[in-house]
Formats: sequence, C-alpha cells, structure tokens
Amino acid sequence: MTRTIHILNGPNLNLLGKRQPEIYGADTLADVEAQCRAVAAEFGLECILLQSNHEGQIIDWIHEARQVAAGIIINPAAFTHTSVAIMDALNTFEGPVLEVHISNVHKRESFRHHSYVSLRAEGVIAGFGIDGYALAMRRMGSLVG
Ligand code: DQA
Repeated sequence: MTRTIHILNGPNLNLLGKRQPEIYGADTLADVEAQCRAVAAEFGLECILLQSNHEGQIIDWIHEARQVAAGIIINPAAFTHTSVAIMDALNTFEGPVLEVHISNVHKRESFRHHSYVSLRAEGVIAGFGIDGYALAMRRMGSLVG
C-alpha cells in the first residue's frame, strides 16, 4: 500500500510569497512543502507537492494519483469555483481528499463561496494561512492510518 500523499496546487500559487502577500502571506510553496514533509514523517508518510496553472495538468495528476497516492490534499485556487472537471477527476480517486485554502474564502467575494471540490472533499480548511496545509497533512495521517 502506497504511503505517499499528493499535494496539488492550482493557478497562481507558484507566486505564493510574492502574490498579494496581504492576503496569502509571505511564505512560499517551498515552505509549504517543508512543513508538510515534517508532519508527514510523523505518520510515516511521504509527500509530493505539485503546482500547475493548467486545469488539464491538474486533472492528469489526479489520474496519476489513482495508482500511486494514499490521499490528495488540494488547493485548486480559482479552479475551486469553476471546475466541474477537477471535481469529476477527484471522484475517480478512491482515497481521502482534503481541500485547503490559504485565505478565508467565505470572507471574500461571493463567487469564492462556492466550491465544486467541497462536494468531494472529506474536509475543508480555509483561512489558516499556509498552516492549513500542515493541518490537512495531520488529518491525512489520521485518515490513512
Ligand atoms: C485560494 C482562494 C481562491 O479563491 C483563489 O482563487 C486562489 C487561492 C486560497 O488558497 O485562498 O487562488 O484557493
């Protein structure tokens, strides 16, 4: 049984740390990866962090995760609010799915209040900054044993 958790990130998150730091903070995706790796190790898990600005790439990575991942942590970024295709792809994945948003999407514009991915996710974390990823990894450790 695989012990790897895939952490998938959607568009513009490659600019984390530079993009709107008043909303998303000063930490980078490399910081996210380091924090998640430390938590994963506590549970005997490994993790892989991936980011793409392209919807189809994220869908392909979800399909690949079907073979090799125990769980998926996903911040779909703007695709959260638009992508039936990412939701459909996640529905082909049998392990747990946790959704993370760095900002509190419910405090922001109304178009950010709806998430297609939440229709699939076991849990959602929003508004905890990048700590949300490590918290999701801790929850993942409980879910996958
Ligand atoms: C986000 C929230 C989304 O609404 C936004 O489009 C993002 C990032 C977050 O992490 O807070 O790009 O997913």
